[in-house]
Amino acid sequence: MVQTGEQVLRGRLGSATCTGCHGSDGTGTPLGPDLTAKPYLWGDGSYDSIAKHIRNGVPRPKQYREPMPPMGGAQLSPEQVQAVAAYVWGLGHH
Ligand code: HEC
Repeated sequence: MVQTGEQVLRGRLGSATCTGCHGSDGTGTPLGPDLTAKPYLWGDGSYDSIAKHIRNGVPRPKQYREPMPPMGGAQLSPEQVQAVAAYVWGLGHH
């Protein structure tokens, strides 16, 4: 599941462009925050909270000017959302 998640994050599966805003290693760009850093901007950093924010996006960012579209603007299956959420969770817990 974590491996699938990495592929989703990198856009190799499901055509999401997470890395375009969050960086190829998830550490952020001027368009999106560092996903490896704590504290989290949204929620408590739990798997459920991360999955929810990936599914819904972030319409009103706290620190960035452009919103995050739901699922990063892609159509991800529920399994792909779960996998990428697990991968992002892992980035913050190592
Ligand atoms: C268009 C740019 C963009 C894309 C594409 C994008 N994000 Fe985001 N993401 C953001 C912004 C902006 C925020 C909110 C930052 C803020 O609140 O200041 C965010 C927030 C998040 C958060 C919450 C971080 C926290 O600190 O609580 C997660 C998790 C996340 N994104 C994961 C993803 C994943 C996974 C994908 C791909 C499916 C993705 N993002 C695609 C821009 C993007």
